[in-house]
Amino acid sequence: MGARLDGTVAVVTGASSGIGEATARALAGEGAHVALLARRRERLEALAGELGDGSSVHEVDVADAEAVARAIADVVARHGRLDVLVNNAGYGSMTPATGSALSEWRTMVDVNVNGVLGTTHAALDHLRRAATGERGIADVVTVSSVAGRKVSGPAVNVYAATKHAVGAFSEALRQELGTDHVRVGLVEPGLVRSELTEGQGAAQQAEAEQELGLMEPSDIADAIVYMVTRPRRTAVNEILVRPTEQAR
Ligand SMILES: NC(=O)c1ccc[n+]([C@@H]2O[C@H](COP(=O)([O-])OP(=O)(O)OC[C@H]3O[C@@H](n4cnc5c(N)ncnc54)[C@H](OP(=O)(O)O)[C@@H]3O)[C@@H](O)[C@H]2O)c1
Repeated sequence: MGARLDGTVAVVTGASSGIGEATARALAGEGAHVALLARRRERLEALAGELGDGSSVHEVDVADAEAVARAIADVVARHGRLDVLVNNAGYGSMTPATGSALSEWRTMVDVNVNGVLGTTHAALDHLRRAATGERGIADVVTVSSVAGRKVSGPAVNVYAATKHAVGAFSEALRQELGTDHVRVGLVEPGLVRSELTEGQGAAQQAEAEQELGLMEPSDIADAIVYMVTRPRRTAVNEILVRPTEQAR
């Protein structure tokens, strides 16, 4: 028996580290060709070296909608289809509003909101076309956050706002695309060990102060693979996944 995504093509944004890297690996493990998008080319090339022919490297800033559109067009031109889009690239800077740099707020909006919009916009027609093919289904999965459901403290201000925004967009998209057999899913992780959390000291702080066992990126990749490998009749709309001990 073949793997469950044999013959399909997936795009993963933010594939150069953390959850995106783990997701790219997991989708490739299911047989998908995975187009790896991020800014750090050398990190993407290292992953592509591991995945071999089943992957391609696209150095792109997701905040640059034209560059994203070119990358998606390139993927479809090379491979003829696009079945799965994983909107994962993200940036978080958790500091109180007072004293925050406006540029940090703008970066979060550019990457977490405009990045998702630009990538989805570029992929939409290709996904709808893939869903009319033999497989009969296509998927958009967006990586939101627990912070896309609730505001767990003042410092998550703009990060939470961006994740709430993509949650709303994703729900509207789900309502529109179901009859076209393009499933739209939202994954909402709690704390995961990655550059995002370690760079802020959040991972270390959570473990030290709350005796919290962090999740690993592969835990979120598992949730994404679950979503995109359901039978055509079943759409998993939302997965909220926290470390067992995480209270908020
Ligand atoms: N870690 C957590 O606890 C946690 C919890 C909830 C949700 N999330 C979400 O999970 C997603 C992945 O985060 P992570 O934890 O895996 O963090 P990470 O290791 O820092 O990964 C972030 C990824 O996004 C990419 N990225 C950032 N800015 C980009 C840009 N302008 N253009 C293209 N790619 C860009 C980075 O690649 P380059 O730097 O190479 O461009 C990197 O591959 C994010 O959406 C984050 O908000 C994380």
